[in-house]
Amino acid sequence: MNRSPLSEFLKDTSYHDGLPQRIISGWQSPSNIAFIKYWGKRPEQLPLYPSLSMTLERSFTQTRVVATRNDKRSPGLLINDNPVHPFLPKLSRFLTWIVTEIPVLQRFRFTVTTRNSFPHSTGIASSASGFSAFTLCLLSIASKATSLVIPNEHLLSLASYASRMGSGSACRSVYGGYTVWGKTKLLRGSSDQEAISVNDIIHPSLLSLRDAILVISRKPKTLSSSLGHETMKIHPFAAGRIFQAKDHFKNMLSGLKTGDMQQIGLLAEAEALSLHALLMSAPGGAVVLEPESLMVIRKIRASRALGIPLFFTLDAGPNVHLLYPETDRDAVGTFIETELLPLCEYSLWIDDSCGHGPREISGITDSDFSLV
Ligand code: DP6
Repeated sequence: MNRSPLSEFLKDTSYHDGLPQRIISGWQSPSNIAFIKYWGKRPEQLPLYPSLSMTLERSFTQTRVVATRNDKRSPGLLINDNPVHPFLPKLSRFLTWIVTEIPVLQRFRFTVTTRNSFPHSTGIASSASGFSAFTLCLLSIASKATSLVIPNEHLLSLASYASRMGSGSACRSVYGGYTVWGKTKLLRGSSDQEAISVNDIIHPSLLSLRDAILVISRKPKTLSSSLGHETMKIHPFAAGRIFQAKDHFKNMLSGLKTGDMQQIGLLAEAEALSLHALLMSAPGGAVVLEPESLMVIRKIRASRALGIPLFFTLDAGPNVHLLYPETDRDAVGTFIETELLPLCEYSLWIDDSCGHGPREISGITDSDFSLV
């Protein structure tokens, strides 16, 4: 039988008599941008093929969880003092799952304060950063409650395993740099159940890669990723997509090893367009790009003819991520300001880059936030 890695929290149950009344934990966890897109899933939140992403630096969620003893044995959850918070149903479902895996958590109710450094539900993966931050808080609380000392590296691996159940892309957010989620013969240690860091095979120049996120629209997403994944179960092009994604993955990995920006960039674009083609050709035909998204894409492609080396990718929304090397920051900055910002909502963009991964925080204050 496959034992859950979380079952180590069951090893010692001597804590039952001396549980603390209150435990507080805070984590900041970043979002990530997929170069190879996770799209479609098998039961238990398992992927159809491996995905690969770059963890961001400035697009993050900060979450603080206060766990208070709850002798009713039914988990309670309140987010930002809002009893109808939009994330409550998804977070409650996740909590119901995790308390069966880590029973000590059933002895607490949770008050959550959480804030993003970017507008949520606009195709910037707030569920990735949100679930990874929340999971890290719960694991820290469980470890404090049980006095189980978990080395940081192991904590991150447990967080990747567990946060996947909240949101698939969250499992890639627990490591800085580049991560892969999904079993592949190309990478030793890869797994469908959790993501792994692949920084040791990445060309060093890519650890400072930049991602300018152009906010084309701050309107809430018209299509949830979860519903989008569902469409892959009946999508007429599903088999072709799986074949294509595996091929893209192999070539992306070789581009990342050699640091070939052209190869990486063109594959990232092909992945983004394939994702949107899948959305448009699914039953119901979802069009989530805005006219400005397409105008930005045209300008990016035209800029390459002028020698500016930038490439785009997209999540399942209208906002455009611009990928470019750190060494071209000045030229790209000028191009963004003059050509692309007029196409963004309120000239809004996030000047982001490859990031360092989650960090524990002791408190949340307004000054911790850097909304641009
Ligand atoms: C297009 O991780 O948001 O961003 O597992 O249902 O929560 P759930 O989906 P989610 O899907 C992300 C899809 C994507 C591509 C990616 O990040 O790989």
